[in-house]
Amino acid sequence: MTIEHTFDNVTLVNDDYRNHLHHLHNADVLITDPPYGMNYRGHGHKQKPIAGDKTTHLRDQLITTWGANKPAMIFGTWRVPKPTCRNTIAWIKTNIGPGMGALDLPWGSAWEEIYILGTGFYTPHKRQPNHTQINAYPAGSKQRPNHPTPKPVELMEWLIQHCQPEWTIIDPFAGSGATLRAARNLGRTAIGFEIDHDYTELAADLLRQDQEKGNTT
Ligand SMILES: C[S@@+](CC[C@H](N)C(=O)[O-])C[C@H]1O[C@@H](n2cnc3c(N)ncnc32)[C@H](O)[C@@H]1O
Repeated sequence: MTIEHTFDNVTLVNDDYRNHLHHLHNADVLITDPPYGMNYRGHGHKQKPIAGDKTTHLRDQLITTWGANKPAMIFGTWRVPKPTCRNTIAWIKTNIGPGMGALDLPWGSAWEEIYILGTGFYTPHKRQPNHTQINAYPAGSKQRPNHPTPKPVELMEWLIQHCQPEWTIIDPFAGSGATLRAARNLGRTAIGFEIDHDYTELAADLLRQDQEKGNTT
């Protein structure tokens, strides 16, 4: 049986999104942070690996199913070839240090990429440069959800604010639920899928806490 949680206009489903492709076809914008294809392990390898993170297959399969012309914002890394896109936003994590990685180099990585596909985005004031500086969760911080790659809810809100208010959002790789939490805070309609039961419960708990606190932006 598929477990489904609902918080205001936001639904979280514990399943492989590929069992629910009709939701992909009904959604207006794809906002997601897929397995990057870098076999990432969080915090000193204490966390379990992300399902499907050995290659970019899941990312590329999703983009093929979604199509190049529908609006999409998809996280990625410079470490693997990027998909064809119309722009790439740099999320610059100004609050964190160089971290680990290739220690023989003088630079560590402190930014991620967000690929923009499709048309019709909302332009609130005037055109902006394609970067944003929003704090990441520092490793080991109390606020950091217990997931290897949690995105800040504030960053997801910033992305969603560039979508048309009436658009239905879909996140097929929900993880700790940052996209869904941001959507709920902003009063948007969204659906997300997470294959891992523990991460689904984590996201559901965070969404429940937000709802109880009356979090809105
Ligand atoms: C990079 S993480 C997303 C992190 C998320 N943005 C957050 O803020 O926590 C990718 C997630 O996709 C999930 N996943 C992998 N394959 C999936 C699939 N076929 N369907 C649904 N979820 C999947 C993984 O379990 C993982 O939690």
